[in-house]
Amino acid sequence: MNNFIFQNPTKLVFGKGQIAQLAKLIPADKKIMMTYGGGSIHKNGVYAQVKEALKNHNVAEFGGIEPNPEYETLMRCVAECREKEIDFLLAVGGGSVIDGTKFVAAALKWEGEPWDFLMKPLKVDQAVPLAAVLTIAATGSEMNKGSVVSRRELKEKRFFFSDACFPKFSILDPTVLYSLPKKQLANGVIDSFIHVLEQYVTFDNKAYIQDYWSEGILKTLVKVGPELMENQEDYDNCSNFMYAATMALNGFIVMGVAEDWATHMIGQELTALHGLDHGVTLAIVYPGVVKVMREEKAEKLLQYGERVFGITEGTADERIDKTIAATEDFFKSLGVKIKLSDYNIGDETIEEVARRFGERGYNLGEKGNITPAVIKQILNEVK
Ligand code: NZQ
Ligand code: ZN
Repeated sequence: MNNFIFQNPTKLVFGKGQIAQLAKLIPADKKIMMTYGGGSIHKNGVYAQVKEALKNHNVAEFGGIEPNPEYETLMRCVAECREKEIDFLLAVGGGSVIDGTKFVAAALKWEGEPWDFLMKPLKVDQAVPLAAVLTIAATGSEMNKGSVVSRRELKEKRFFFSDACFPKFSILDPTVLYSLPKKQLANGVIDSFIHVLEQYVTFDNKAYIQDYWSEGILKTLVKVGPELMENQEDYDNCSNFMYAATMALNGFIVMGVAEDWATHMIGQELTALHGLDHGVTLAIVYPGVVKVMREEKAEKLLQYGERVFGITEGTADERIDKTIAATEDFFKSLGVKIKLSDYNIGDETIEEVARRFGERGYNLGEKGNITPAVIKQILNEVK
C-alpha cells in the first residue's frame, strides 16, 4: 500500500425527508445563490422542498446550468453572484450543476480569467463556500473536490480540483431518484461503476481493505442497477445506489492505491467533440482499455472477474475474456450501446483524440504507458 493522507470535510446528510435540514445547515445571515439545471427540480418537487426549507433565508436563484456545464453560462452566474454579493452557493442538481457551482465558487475568488485555471491548469486556493442537494447518483461530485467544465465554442471539456471546492455539506435523499429518466439512471450506474474500476483494476497494490470496498461497491451496482431499470421506486435500491455512487469517488477507495483515469480522459474528449453523455463515453471506452491493457492488468482483472462476477472456470486468458464480456453485458443490460459506430463516430475522431493527447504531451494509465498510439488502438477496438 502506498503512503497517503486522507481528509474529506464534506458532511453527508442522507435519507428521506432530509432536504428540510437545509434551514439548520446554512447560517441565517448568508446571501445564498441557489443554482440548478434545466428544470427537472420543478417537476419532481425538489425545488418546492428547498424553497420551503429556506423560506426564512435570503435566496437568489440561477437556473439553466446544462448537462456538461457550459463556461459561458457559468460566467453569467458569476456576474449575477457578484452583483448580488452572494456569499454561499447551493447547488441543487446532479454532477453538472454541482461541478458548475464549484467553478462559479472558485471563479468568484479568482483574479483574472477563470478559464485559465481549467486550461493551464493553475492551482485554485479559494472559493466561496458551497453545498449541494443531490438529484442524481453518478459523479461523486457531492463529496469530492473535482469539477468538469465544457466550452463548446472551443470543443473543450476540462477539469480542476481544489480543496476549497469540497461541498460544506451534501443532502442525499434517495427518493429524488424516482423521477430520473432511465437513460440518466443507466448513465449514473455506469459512471460510478467505472469510477471504481479506474481505482481498482490496475495492479496488485496489496491494499486489501480498498479492494474489498471497491468490490462491495461494484457488487452493489451489479445488483441494484438492473433492478432499478425494472422498478425505479424501490427505496432500498435507490439508497444503496446513491451511497455507492458517492463512495465510488470521494477519496475512500483510492487511499494508497494506483489510479488509471484513461477511460475518463478519453471519454471526456468524445463528449467535447460529439456531445455524448459522460456515462455513455465510459461504457464505450472501458472495454477497449481492458482489451488493450489486459496483460498489465491481468492480476486485477482475474480478481475482479472472480469476486464480482463469480468467474472461476477456465485458463487465465479465458477468465479475462469472460470478465470483459461480463462487463460489456452489464453495460448493455442497462440499455446502453457500447460501440463508436452506434454513435456515428469513426476514424476521424480517433485520429483527433490521439492528436489532442499528443499535443498535451502526457500519457495515460496507471503506469503512464498509454501513449497516443495506444489510445488509437483502444478506440479501434471499440469501433
Ligand atoms: O438539468 P435538469 O433539468 O435538472 O435535468 C438533468 C439533466 O438533464 C437530469 N436530472 C438530474 N436529476 C434529475 C434529473 N431528471 C429527473 N429527475 C432528477 N432527479 O439528468 C440530466 C443529467 O444531469 P447531469 O448533472 O449532467 O448528470 P451527472 O450527474 O451524470 O453529471 C455529469 C457531469 O459530471 C461530470 C461529467 O463530466 C459531466 O459533465 N463529472 C464530474 C465528476 C466530478 N465532479 O467528480 C466526475 C465524473 O467522472 C464526471 O466527469
Ligand atoms: Zn465519471
